Amino acid sequence: MLRQYDVIVIGGGPMGLSTAFHLSKRKVRTLLLEQFTFFNQLGSSAGMSRQFRLPYPEAYMVKLVKQSIPFWDELQSLTPTTLLDKVGTLWFGDPKVHSTEGNIAEAEKALQELNVPYTTLTAAEIEREYHFRDLPSDYTGLFQPDGASIDLRAVQQTLYNWNAASPFVAMEDEAPVTRVTQHGRTFEVMTPKGAFTAEKLVLVPGPFANGVFQLLGFRIAATYWNMASAFYRITEPGIQYPTWFVFQNAAGDNGNEFYGFPEVSWDHPGTIRVASDFVIQPLDSPEQRTLVPNPRELEYTAQWVRDHMTGLAPVPLFTSTCLVALSRIPNKELLIDFAPAYVPNHRNIVLYATGWAAKFVPLLGRILSDLALDGHTPFDISHFATGATYLKPL
Ligand code: BEZ
Repeated sequence: MLRQYDVIVIGGGPMGLSTAFHLSKRKVRTLLLEQFTFFNQLGSSAGMSRQFRLPYPEAYMVKLVKQSIPFWDELQSLTPTTLLDKVGTLWFGDPKVHSTEGNIAEAEKALQELNVPYTTLTAAEIEREYHFRDLPSDYTGLFQPDGASIDLRAVQQTLYNWNAASPFVAMEDEAPVTRVTQHGRTFEVMTPKGAFTAEKLVLVPGPFANGVFQLLGFRIAATYWNMASAFYRITEPGIQYPTWFVFQNAAGDNGNEFYGFPEVSWDHPGTIRVASDFVIQPLDSPEQRTLVPNPRELEYTAQWVRDHMTGLAPVPLFTSTCLVALSRIPNKELLIDFAPAYVPNHRNIVLYATGWAAKFVPLLGRILSDLALDGHTPFDISHFATGATYLKPL
């Protein structure tokens, strides 16, 4: 086993796998460390499906999704498995609601700015074309045809296979980082499998970010959502939803925003996943998380399914959870930056943390590898600078 690398990537989820992939293409000796096992279900990539979508309230996010498309094409060229099942994105609901995901009118404006095609819909059209029912008559919607279900497992497998075959990448699982020390420009990274050294670090530990960042003397201001999903049996054969998101006003502790998928062949076929995009109790640290979904969040989701969806059994067959770290600074969905300046050699420590980024996996690996090797990237990441998000360590 080699002990010395050019870059050590900490975090073996989709972002780490993608970063190693891009580093390997530049023939850089890379070590990818995963604290659990590759493909584990304990972090932000738990579950098998994610949404690829262009609607965002911010034009810079729409632009970034557009920029990710050639990188998706590149990844797709490495596998016969379809990575993006293109079924379209349906955003609908109360046009007055401004939520964690934005607002429908703002998204339309951003899509127009970037020349992204979409159609607008009335409540009656949403019911007629997309199987929803009993929607308030003032609901509106937009349909964007490039949206897709992401086969997250296949994305990871494709990247993993590439890295496993690459002479430039070593992957170690069950290798949590317990200490990082600096000797001049060299980082020494301690794990139960021994110590490894490199002059560059890329930190992508998902919701476990602060556990790693603290080893380098900083942390970010984050909150944690243990998100609940439910899989409903399809009772009307052939019924096919797009990927969708509904904007509604919260009612008490019911955040009242839900999202869902069509049936996909790779994730509990015969069912579709519907989930709540809120949590009743955010967490202060990942350690507070349990693998049991919040029953009230599940019940609010089930009520939505019973009231407004067709062709599904009223009670879910399976449930699951997924832990995500969210930035506490408003409008800072993703954090992509170097470590703060008070950390020695901070420009040699690159990080990505917080937010929903599965749709950016192939592109973010490229951006993080650019930052690690070149100190800059041609992609506009100015909106994701950590700035005030950093806290001194406890
Ligand atoms: C997303 O596409 O980023 C997303 C979709 C549903 C819930 C949360 C985030």
